[in-house]
Amino acid sequence: MRKNIAIFASGSGSNAENIIRYFRDNKHAVVALVISNKSDAGVLTRVSSFDIPTFVALKDDWTPDGQVISLLNKYNIDFIVLAGFLRRIPETLLNNYSNKIINIHPSLLPKYGGKGMYGDKVHQAVVAAEEKESGITIHYVNEHYDEGGIIYQATCPVLTSDTPDDVAAKVHQLEYKYYPVVIEELLSR
Ligand code: GRF
Repeated sequence: MRKNIAIFASGSGSNAENIIRYFRDNKHAVVALVISNKSDAGVLTRVSSFDIPTFVALKDDWTPDGQVISLLNKYNIDFIVLAGFLRRIPETLLNNYSNKIINIHPSLLPKYGGKGMYGDKVHQAVVAAEEKESGITIHYVNEHYDEGGIIYQATCPVLTSDTPDDVAAKVHQLEYKYYPVVIEELLSR
């Protein structure tokens, strides 16, 4: 039986799109639902051409008897993938999906993680600290930001001439290359 993936995203959704494309016609899993917590998030328009239900879930929708839990049940979701999702995952969801929610962070955790460390801020901090490398961390989600068990890391060099945008571009390439493959590996076990 193919597993059903839900993607949660708050931003432009380039990873969401990449994952959706990867799992079209995949024998292990398919993306069956996309949820955003922002009504104007780019991800909503970006994935609108795919035949996948998309929902905006605002504050009250995340309560234990709110819309999000009903949607996950309705679409028989087995696994949740965070792709640029900027909201804490409520405890009920963590309990219902124990070790079945993963996130990707654009740095080599534990460096440059935690509350407030997201998007360009991560890459700016990496360049300011004159790091020689950066990369991605794919990890399980728990109640603390960016602290769940690490599943996979990949690195890229940071040159002295690199701007934060340059680092972001390298990190995005790693995200596109590895996130779908790691998800597939987890769901084919
Ligand atoms: C990615 O860099 C991801 O690592 C981080 O948020 C960003 C999302 O980018 N968690 P996009 O919305 O997928 O383009």
